[in-house]
Amino acid sequence: MPTGRLQEVLNELDRLDRAAGSVEDFMWEVVKLLHDRMLKYNWAGFYMLEKEKPGRAQPRMLVLGPFQGAMTPHTRIPLNQGICGAAASTGKTVVVDDVSLDSRYLACSTETKSEIVVPVFVRGKVVGELDIDSHFPAAFGNQDRDLVEYCASLVGKQLEKILP
Ligand code: SME
Repeated sequence: MPTGRLQEVLNELDRLDRAAGSVEDFMWEVVKLLHDRMLKYNWAGFYMLEKEKPGRAQPRMLVLGPFQGAMTPHTRIPLNQGICGAAASTGKTVVVDDVSLDSRYLACSTETKSEIVVPVFVRGKVVGELDIDSHFPAAFGNQDRDLVEYCASLVGKQLEKILP
């Protein structure tokens, strides 16, 4: 049972979900809320998977969407690179307690110590992901995983209403 700050953040998420003007507005609000209220979440951002286009030769990439925190050099990430690529290509949440020990890691800030990436699904297919970085090692426990997965699921449900 979440308590204190976490419960407040969950309540605020539900309020923002009901009040959202557009999915993009909601995504900006989610990353701002997580970045501002969760003290160890030092960077929070969405990457969205490029849409499939018939006849396109290049593989689809993850493209930086709404985010809070310092600008990252990684604005486009191939599905076979980074923790981000791993989460999107497998459709599974990836938690890395020490990014320096993970050869997949693409550095966004030298201060980052741990990271969680959670896929966003629409009708069972990955359409993007929510990425959180922390300056603290092993910052993401089970409650954090539940929270970030809940955020990703709210965005997925909103996208489901507008995507074909
Ligand atoms: N660290 C990510 C890249 C994105 S930045 O953290 C914002 C990765 O390894 O895929």
